[in-house]
Amino acid sequence: MIRVGLVGVGAMGRGHLEVYIRLMEEDPSIKLTALCDVDPKRFEAREGNLNIEGVGKDQIDFSRFHLYADMDAMLDQEPLDMVDLVIPTYLHAPYAEKALDRGLHVFCEKPMSLTPEQCQRMIDARNRSGKLLMIGQCLRFWPAYEKLKETVENGSLGKPTAGYYARYGGTPRGSFEDWYLDETRSGGCLLDQHIHDVDMVNWLFGLPEAVSTRGVNANPGAGIDALSTIYRYPGMSVATEDDWSLNGKDMKFQMRFRQNFERGAVVFEDNKLTVYPNGESSYVPDLPADNGYYRELRYFLDRIGDGEPIATAPLESTRDTIRIAVAERESARLDGEWVPVK
Ligand SMILES: NC(=O)c1ccc[n+]([C@@H]2O[C@H](COP(=O)([O-])OP(=O)(O)OC[C@H]3O[C@@H](n4cnc5c(N)ncnc54)[C@H](O)[C@@H]3O)[C@@H](O)[C@H]2O)c1
Repeated sequence: MIRVGLVGVGAMGRGHLEVYIRLMEEDPSIKLTALCDVDPKRFEAREGNLNIEGVGKDQIDFSRFHLYADMDAMLDQEPLDMVDLVIPTYLHAPYAEKALDRGLHVFCEKPMSLTPEQCQRMIDARNRSGKLLMIGQCLRFWPAYEKLKETVENGSLGKPTAGYYARYGGTPRGSFEDWYLDETRSGGCLLDQHIHDVDMVNWLFGLPEAVSTRGVNANPGAGIDALSTIYRYPGMSVATEDDWSLNGKDMKFQMRFRQNFERGAVVFEDNKLTVYPNGESSYVPDLPADNGYYRELRYFLDRIGDGEPIATAPLESTRDTIRIAVAERESARLDGEWVPVK
């Protein structure tokens, strides 16, 4: 039996809650018993407000869970094996450390933390506790991106030559104390939304030698709200873009990529992955139907069950993602100068 406590039932927490409700139906050894949120209204909300279509929208019966306003109280009173932290980023490191030190496995949302130093403290806490800690860099479990990783690794289209990765959407509003728009608490778009593509670039190609970023601010105090980065890898061109200041009424959140190889390309657009081998007809590969939110939690619970290490998203790698993002921020401050990744 894996007994889970979920901390943070905001926009993304609702998405996790839906996943656990499904997992409990599929697997009687998983039991989400307790929810914790400082805002009691979160236990009444009829619908979440995440920007990913179809996630966090279910009607939830909160009476089936033990409800807490404080993680310490939950940890004191509930016999748990694992906590899932879906709280604002500035709380990731202290809350993960606390739960690990109390002998629990921890799943924690992305980004790992605000600085590489805080990430290191989380790694140290994991090492001390002997428990598992994994960061929800969900694209590593998103079928289209997983297929891309497989194509990079199996060489079926030759070596990667040029890649373009992007996400766009509206400004995140209505979060807890508007924490997203406070750079000191979220790291801004660069460390929050953009971290997905930074993590993808890192997962696919490892640490770049250097980065060059230009970015602009749209919301005072929010840091960089829109940016473009190029990454220096030997013999390969890689670029990312992000913008969370597209506030047109019918603008929908989008994520996409185009990765070119010596013998073809893989393109993800409008939630559809297409493979274009050079000189041949394109095709749409069969992919698992479940999204990365479900698959990352299933993966983590399976690792608690079998005791195997977290190979798909090791902490040292998700910390490196933060190292790259911090170099991007420094480059933006220097108006696009190349900054080595330290
Ligand atoms: N993987 C993804 O695609 C994705 C998408 C959105 C958000 N996220 C991440 O999920 C996390 C949460 O984001 P969100 O959009 O749900 O934010 P949110 O503001 O909507 O929700 C945060 C929740 O945490 C609660 N909270 C704040 N302080 C708390 C504390 N000390 N103890 C207990 N609860 C507390 C708030 O009341 C709120 O309900 C962030 O790390 C964010 O980056 C990931």
